Amino acid sequence: MAPTADKDARPPAVLVVDDEKEIGQILRDALQREGFDCDNAAGGFEALSRLAKKSYDVVVTDIKMPDMDGISLCRKIRSSYETDVMVLTGFGLDFTYEQIISIGAADFLVKPVSNSELAARVKRILNERRSRSERLQALSELKEQVEKFRRAMEGIVQAMSVAVEMRDPYTAGHQERVAELAGAIAVAQGLDQETVYGLEMAGRIHDLGKITVPAEILAKPGRLSNLEYELIKNHVRAGYDILKKIEFPWPIARIILQHHERLDGSGYPAGLAGEAILPQARILAVADVFETIASHRPYRPSLGVHKALAELEAGRGVRYDPDVVGVCLELVRDKGFVFSRNWVPADKPVPPP
Ligand SMILES: [Fe+2]
Repeated sequence: MAPTADKDARPPAVLVVDDEKEIGQILRDALQREGFDCDNAAGGFEALSRLAKKSYDVVVTDIKMPDMDGISLCRKIRSSYETDVMVLTGFGLDFTYEQIISIGAADFLVKPVSNSELAARVKRILNERRSRSERLQALSELKEQVEKFRRAMEGIVQAMSVAVEMRDPYTAGHQERVAELAGAIAVAQGLDQETVYGLEMAGRIHDLGKITVPAEILAKPGRLSNLEYELIKNHVRAGYDILKKIEFPWPIARIILQHHERLDGSGYPAGLAGEAILPQARILAVADVFETIASHRPYRPSLGVHKALAELEAGRGVRYDPDVVGVCLELVRDKGFVFSRNWVPADKPVPPP
């Protein structure tokens, strides 16, 4: 039965390159008898011009040829095509197996070559090609599945975010903006892409627990009573409880639980201090404070970017992580950071004198 290059049952295409015409034809005939679609080229340049017009699975090339040696040809083929190369050499001692494989050849045979061994080696290369392409196919399907899962997860996070904002329209866009600034700080700090992504996810739903707070308290324009304030403070634990069973690849529930903790232990719910607070929660805290002060709230208009920066500076190293504050100040003052969505600041950031 003829060997096949792929599931389309196309016979495998093999190009035999040899400057000695007779040898080339003998090898071609031998491979054709095995069912391969086989052509000849009399040298490296002819081989390259054939490759430019037709797709070959395997090139079998001699090494010593006048116009271009088989080693250079192999390098050129491997840098531009998916084709595998088998090198035939009458100078077995001139090249070690490692040297020939290191230039990208799939195999090599020492001349004189027996027809049956040549066919067997070419078939082995074809088998390897087939399993390689099956592996690549499986990998690309897996990547597609991961991408689908990621999109579904983003959709769910987005839906949770919308659910919070439907009940609390005064803070519409707040979570999105906090996520944006937290992400920008994390990128500027050099955190890895996955950590940044997880932090942005946490930012988008960091006030999820507010769905447990009565709407009239969330929308209350005046001062809150102590009891009302306690109910609002409970949103961090409520958010944690809602999310804690979901196995996100990032500690989203814990970041949310800790986003009102403060460096000096004055925050809530646990009064954690310093390094006991997750680095992502320390970033989220700074982004949250900045956005909250610089934006309109139910009970007051925006206090402006200057006020927000002043609060961060006053609390730097006390309530807020000093490095995170430093990066945030630099982003807003020196790099002109502004939120990209639904945000009208009361003032414009101006660099310090
Ligand atoms: Fe919050």
